[in-house]
Amino acid sequence: MCGIVGYIGDNNALDIGIKGLRRLEYRGYDSAGLAIHNGNSVDCIKSVGKVDDLAQKIKDKDLKGNSIILHSRWATHGGVVEKNAHPHTDCKGNIFIVHNGIVENYKEIRAKLTSLGHKFVSETDSEVISHLIEHFYEGNLEEAVIKALKYIKGTYGLVVMSKDNPDRIVAARMFSPLVISVNEHGGFVASDPSAIISHSKRMIFLEDGEVAVIKKDDFIITDLESRVKDKQETELDWDIEEAQKGGYPHFMIKEIMEQSESVANSMRGRLIIEEGISKLGGIDSVKDKLKEIKKINILACGTSYYAGLIGEYLMEELAGIPTEVDFASEFRYRKFPTVADEAYLFISQSGETADSLAALKEIKKREALALGIVNVVGASIARETDAGVYNHAGPEIGVASTKAFTSQVVVLALMALFLGRQRNLSLADGKNIANDIAKLPILIQETLKNIKDIELLAKKYSGASNFLFVGRKYSYPVAMEGALKLKEISYIHSEGYSSGEMKHGPIALIDENFPTFAICPKDSVYEKTLSNIQEIKARNGKVIAITTMGNEEIKSLVDDVIYIPEVNEVLSPILSVIPVQVFAYYMAVSFGYNPDMPRNLAKSVTVE
Ligand code: F6R
Repeated sequence: MCGIVGYIGDNNALDIGIKGLRRLEYRGYDSAGLAIHNGNSVDCIKSVGKVDDLAQKIKDKDLKGNSIILHSRWATHGGVVEKNAHPHTDCKGNIFIVHNGIVENYKEIRAKLTSLGHKFVSETDSEVISHLIEHFYEGNLEEAVIKALKYIKGTYGLVVMSKDNPDRIVAARMFSPLVISVNEHGGFVASDPSAIISHSKRMIFLEDGEVAVIKKDDFIITDLESRVKDKQETELDWDIEEAQKGGYPHFMIKEIMEQSESVANSMRGRLIIEEGISKLGGIDSVKDKLKEIKKINILACGTSYYAGLIGEYLMEELAGIPTEVDFASEFRYRKFPTVADEAYLFISQSGETADSLAALKEIKKREALALGIVNVVGASIARETDAGVYNHAGPEIGVASTKAFTSQVVVLALMALFLGRQRNLSLADGKNIANDIAKLPILIQETLKNIKDIELLAKKYSGASNFLFVGRKYSYPVAMEGALKLKEISYIHSEGYSSGEMKHGPIALIDENFPTFAICPKDSVYEKTLSNIQEIKARNGKVIAITTMGNEEIKSLVDDVIYIPEVNEVLSPILSVIPVQVFAYYMAVSFGYNPDMPRNLAKSVTVE
């Protein structure tokens, strides 16, 4: 998830562009860059680090121009170095592009263009776009852009400038947001309204497959067949801060709501459904070693640890590999005897958690394979592990992890599928799982339709000072995660327990003032969890059940029901966790707390 800004008009393009880019820094802050057109030539300047570093670099340069494109990068392909920063250009320095998204078929495009004589300077997938446009360019910029886009598989929010065409910039969207606005101050384009809302509140949101040619006082939008589209402007009444949050009051709820997109990004280009397998480029180099693995040890902290617990079920069920999960913060105090052919898998959103890094250092002393599942590209854990998979969930700003969790579980499912197909998982079973994984983005959208009902539930239960969360098998880690979410942002005491363990102690807590969340989708352990719910009801406990759509019988047993769509049991946590995230969010909001900045917590825990 990167930030893009473009402007063309008579005002100070550099000033407008830099101010806009600063407002998009929350989308990525690995590097920043710009290309500015002065009517005759284009200056392109890039810098590793934040927009401030770029501003510092250009402060003594006399950069003037009437059009500009800018980018702040959240690295996906290629390290955090200047040559990988955007804008990217072509061989002649005529075409400049900034891109948010992933070009899935970049390797084959790059190989083809290289054979035709193109010279690439970066390791990025994005650079193929500028060269592909160059390949098709015969004087008409938008025509060349459209021809190039027809070859690209993947996602893009793209803005293009050309030295030969100082009167226009071209923008195009496929699954990565772009918004434009043209008024008396000029033509603007950005990844989200926050970058340009100070110039205009009237916005046009581009749809997938649309291309916009933006001039200083005019614009035209077409589809990829060059058919003109009639688009309506939307008048936004957001202020700048609201705009950064996509109109949501907090990053946490924005991140909850974008899980369909973040999960889609985590699996994009990684599923080969007809072969019933996943393709994970980051672990390709160790695939022969992975074939021999006899045990997996997952190490992580907090929410990432709970994702790891789901990973344990996935690895054992799909791949038949014995798996153990431990808090990275505890691992170093154990003797933890080494066994032959084991792998250590570190899960971390930030990739900088001190406890996880300390455990990784311990592992490096052994001869074991160290793998990572990390969201922040180039983070320490990603660099220090032997191989790994990036989440591609985009920056997570809210301190309480939400979209990183669902993305981690998706990546674990992809890994388990890969390892399973290396072993005994049949083609038919592999295909089924791959198909079920592919459906998740749609099912997440369905799940999120309940949000208003959950807000009301949070109000209804806001008087409770304690909560219990219970679940069995795949729902057990969700119960733990639900309790963590609630306690960390609403400061309500909550415990997560396995449903089966209830009767061994915690059931003593239950009375009419101690409500329980029961995570009980209609899966292989549903009947057993139902019995546990009955035990709670027999002690006058209130129960909120999260169960599968169509389950009517449960209504007469519990006090409130939240429905999630039917889904393969092994993937159910990705849906069932969403209501508990939403519940925790609205609980915090009902008390007037800021869920983005819970007391005593930090986003990245870099102390032991
Ligand atoms: C809870 C939360 C934390 C993190 C934990 C590990 O909402 O965000 O529990 O999951 O601090 O952080 P990472 O995943 O960055 O290693």
